[in-house]
Amino acid sequence: MRTMYCGEVTEANIGQQVELVGWINKQRDLGGVTFLDVRDREGIVQVFFDNDTPEATAIAATVRNEFCIKMKGEVRARPEGQVNKNMTTGGIEIRGLELEILNRAKPSPLDSNQTNSEEQRLRYRYLDLRRPEMAERMVFRSKVSSFVRRFLDDNGFLDVETPILTKATPEGARDYLVPSRTNKGQFFALPQSPQLFKQLLMMSGLDKYYQIVKCFRDEDLRADRQPEFTQIDIETSFMSADEVMDKTEEMVVKLFQEMLDVDLGLFPKMTYAEAMRRFGSDKPDLRIDFELVDVADLLKEVEFNVFSGPANDADSRVAVICVPGGASLSRKNIDEYGKFVNIYGAKGLAWMKVNEAAKGIEGVQSPIAKFLNEEIVAEILKRTEAKDGDIILFGADKANVVAEAIGALRLKVAEDLGLIKDEWKPLWVIDFPMFEPLEDGALTPLHHPFTAPINLTAEELEANPVGAISNAYDMVLNGCELGGGSVRIHKQDMQAAIFRILNISDDEAQDKFGFLLEALQYGTPPHAGLAFGLDRLVMLMTKTTSIREVIAFPKTASAACPLTNAPGFANPAALAELNIAVVKEVKEAKAEKEEAKEG
Ligand code: AMO
Ligand code: AMP
Repeated sequence: MRTMYCGEVTEANIGQQVELVGWINKQRDLGGVTFLDVRDREGIVQVFFDNDTPEATAIAATVRNEFCIKMKGEVRARPEGQVNKNMTTGGIEIRGLELEILNRAKPSPLDSNQTNSEEQRLRYRYLDLRRPEMAERMVFRSKVSSFVRRFLDDNGFLDVETPILTKATPEGARDYLVPSRTNKGQFFALPQSPQLFKQLLMMSGLDKYYQIVKCFRDEDLRADRQPEFTQIDIETSFMSADEVMDKTEEMVVKLFQEMLDVDLGLFPKMTYAEAMRRFGSDKPDLRIDFELVDVADLLKEVEFNVFSGPANDADSRVAVICVPGGASLSRKNIDEYGKFVNIYGAKGLAWMKVNEAAKGIEGVQSPIAKFLNEEIVAEILKRTEAKDGDIILFGADKANVVAEAIGALRLKVAEDLGLIKDEWKPLWVIDFPMFEPLEDGALTPLHHPFTAPINLTAEELEANPVGAISNAYDMVLNGCELGGGSVRIHKQDMQAAIFRILNISDDEAQDKFGFLLEALQYGTPPHAGLAFGLDRLVMLMTKTTSIREVIAFPKTASAACPLTNAPGFANPAALAELNIAVVKEVKEAKAEKEEAKEG
């Protein structure tokens, strides 16, 4: 139907006749001359119809936004002064010769002159996706997956599909369950990742696996989390952690090179302990210059319990951040940051404005200066390399509270004050603890329960699980966890020991992972792997702030789809066949859903 895409007509086509199809982006009827902006996936082109083609011009006068049309015209250079450098097609325009309306459109429920609510955009996603910036992101995403496939194919990885109807794969979220009709009362779980299957594929000898695959996790949603999302999932046999990191780093570096012409350079490696100490986060954003600075050793003797308490407690820390230019913050701003750190369990936020660093304690302004002395203030200023006009913010509490609160505050203040540099800052975070204690003292895996410890036998690990370090690694870019992986356990005694440490009984281990424990007894090769969040990768590369912007049909924060109105109520006959009874009266639940929609 067409000779080329609207968005691809350029100066190279001047003098040629072209046939285009697309949608009306804008129509201006100037009486006798009608201008149409015609849009398709690749962009927008300007067309005009005038008295030389009265028939087509009459049709052009009747078209409205979003009509689907077909046209023929002649490409010519735009008159001097009308060239639009911001558009690929900005140097040309098309003199329209023929015009046909392929389909009319109702007035669009999305207003192109204003920001539409996300609910409305998702309700009419097919129209939202017509917008050039959305179409561009879909094209970009497609190119990213295509690059990844090419790279992995070229490196000997096999694309193998794994089941969607399966048993639970623990990655720390709740499972989505699917009832089985043929096995009444039983449920499949949708995979939180293909973790167990990719390990089984290594046991099968397939050696190198990848899959671009949907994963399902029922967890609280955020800007970078969706209930179904896509992983670039990778597993290899006979490769060390460093080899896996090198190969996947090479993939990401080449991807950025090809798609964005950006050189990410060599990724530094940082231990989890260092990341928590310096940035209060296991996914540090290295685009921000200031770091957490520990000062507990200076405050052991001060007559201010808020500081001396944690300073004398081994499980606590006192850390500060020195925010460049922060002395301009008002009391109100500082109070708001105080409330912000409360969210993370911090009880307060002491502060010190640096007016004249050279004058030491005389040069600072702070409600807590009275508890400190000249030497302490001088040392704090020195350690933080404070400059005139900075503010120093204090966190004193249990070490994990300080890390979380001041780590989050660092990001927030930097964002508010425009202190995040426009650059790419990748790194690997390594040497994670194997386990994390829950409130009741029980241990939970920091990664997943198939991750191997570094340099420990099963007996050694069981004797001292709390201090154990895992052979896991996360790739972090600009403060976002892009991917994570580990060397896996390939010996049955180690896997059994981990289940015991996690308080998973033999019966439960057999029931949940019996197949894996069994498979581990048949010559399992050493293996390791990693999975990237494809949505997050594309979100970062396109500089959008939510993964919903790079997913064609995402879900809302309440994990629903306004377009299809999913999830929906099941028909009672289908439920009966599945042997499932809904506890809440369906009528009642339907009324609630209606009410929520209206409200
Ligand atoms: P993990 O749970 O760290 O590891 O997931 C890997 C990557 O997937 C992305 N991701 C998500 N993206 C969007 N929405 C979500 N809800 C979501 N959850 C995770 C992140 C994350 O880094 N099986 C292991 C990988 C392995 O060990 O090989 C796994 O799934 O970018
Ligand atoms: P107070 O003596 O409790 O009024 O606190 C004096 C200052 O210390 C105030 O600015 C508080 O916000 C701050 N503060 C209180 N608790 C903490 C804490 N745990 N960490 C850092 N600052 C705190």
